[in-house]
Amino acid sequence: MNARTNTLQAERFQASDIEVVRVEANLGAEVRGLDLTAPLTPEIADLLRSLLWEHQVLFFRDTGIDDARQGEIGRIFGEPVVDSIAKRRGVTPGQIFPLNTGPYSNAYYGTRWHADATYLERPYLVSILRSVIAPELGGDTAYSSGISAYESLPEAVKQKIAGLTAIHKPNKKAYQLIKDETELEDYLSEYSGVEHPIVITHPFNGKKVLYVNENFTHEIVGLPEDEGKQLLSYLIHQFYRPENIVRFKWRPGSLAIWDNRAVQHYGVADYGNAQRQLVRVVAQGDRPVR
Ligand code: SIN
Repeated sequence: MNARTNTLQAERFQASDIEVVRVEANLGAEVRGLDLTAPLTPEIADLLRSLLWEHQVLFFRDTGIDDARQGEIGRIFGEPVVDSIAKRRGVTPGQIFPLNTGPYSNAYYGTRWHADATYLERPYLVSILRSVIAPELGGDTAYSSGISAYESLPEAVKQKIAGLTAIHKPNKKAYQLIKDETELEDYLSEYSGVEHPIVITHPFNGKKVLYVNENFTHEIVGLPEDEGKQLLSYLIHQFYRPENIVRFKWRPGSLAIWDNRAVQHYGVADYGNAQRQLVRVVAQGDRPVR
């Protein structure tokens, strides 16, 4: 057992070297001492799942894992999925999707707040990024909790949004990635908008999650236009509050596993022309429900 103490709250697992150190009050934990290159036993899989449902985003350093192992870690959480853009480029489910997010000229450079693929009927349950090339400075990924965002809402707002739904659609960034016009038209008609509850219940921990994001949530259903816009903007702003956010600095070999139902993320665009390469694996989820 690693007996190291930490001023932050830490939980230790009996008879192991694994240490879980929470990094912010409302979300995020760094998992230390877990060798992700070793066999992924059912106990390790259970541990990773339960840590993720508890902490919402898990961070690992110096993992030493390769693409194939990252894919196996993904399968702990669900079947691999490839999004429509990757599919059109010949990537099949099981294959790994490298994300060259820098330099500045790259269409992937920086992202707004979003949970991955909420424009799908069944958005990803879990997303996993591993750093291959990290900028010296900048290029962090920030995560914001839909659980604490929901919990901190005034009671009157909770009541107002309890039965509401919103439409999610791909955003303009997708348009930059698809140059061919026919392909773009196909894409936009394939993803013409899906309706999700504004407040969902997490499938594994039963917590309420505020489920709108600035990238993909287009409009609230059934409210007058102005009122809907105002309410959506208010809800989206909850994710900008520092109380709900944790920020992760990448180093090559670092890994982040996030609960894509509980958190949103934001790729910080402050690394100019530096190279930044991440490898992404995502796992299929069910349809989000109230
Ligand atoms: C993403 O939006 O999935 C990428 C996040 C990042 O570039 O940090």
